[in-house]
Amino acid sequence: MFGDIAAGDWFMLLVRWVHAIGAVAWIGGSAFFAFVLRPVEAANPELVRPVLRSIGSVYREMVDIAVIAIIVSGLILMFDRLTGDDASPAWFIVLGVKLALALWMFYLVWHFRQSDFSPAVKPTGISARLSWLVGYNAMVFLGVVVFLLASLLRVLFETTISS
Ligand code: HEM
Repeated sequence: MFGDIAAGDWFMLLVRWVHAIGAVAWIGGSAFFAFVLRPVEAANPELVRPVLRSIGSVYREMVDIAVIAIIVSGLILMFDRLTGDDASPAWFIVLGVKLALALWMFYLVWHFRQSDFSPAVKPTGISARLSWLVGYNAMVFLGVVVFLLASLLRVLFETTISS
């Protein structure tokens, strides 16, 4: 039953699994921060802020591991597709958009590190209006779009190999 699956395919299954788990942990963690911890912090700042600081430093380690796992596995997945000769122009375009959004997300992590998760400095003026672009909401939004693009990549690829 499983005898038809070659060793290389088992390896790619593992890589795909690592990529997916890393993505789920990262986006799920960001969603928890944006939609659970931040509103609770806004309601009880004195109570939550000290705890949030400790949570932030441990959460940071999880994000580091997830991001490294996503990058390494993502590159392996990409080269696997590229060597297969089945990647269509549409697949390349969607991958390009996915990579651009992924880079934006990596930039956001770096940006959060610079501001040290500090909610104390509230942006004003234009930066207030643009702040959603660099906030946790943006991270979750981009992550959700990247998930959709990943599914689209899969459909595009399967359509090419079955035609
Ligand atoms: C260095 C950055 C990245 C590269 C090179 C990359 C590359 C890829 C490739 C080539 C695939 C397979 C597409 C196909 O089936 O044809 C894939 C799947 C996927 N990617 Fe990425 N990706 C990157 C970052 C991300 C990020 C940041 C996320 C989400 C936060 C993400 C989520 C996913 C998901 C959910 C899948 C589907 C996995 C599955 O089919 O089980 N990727 N990625």
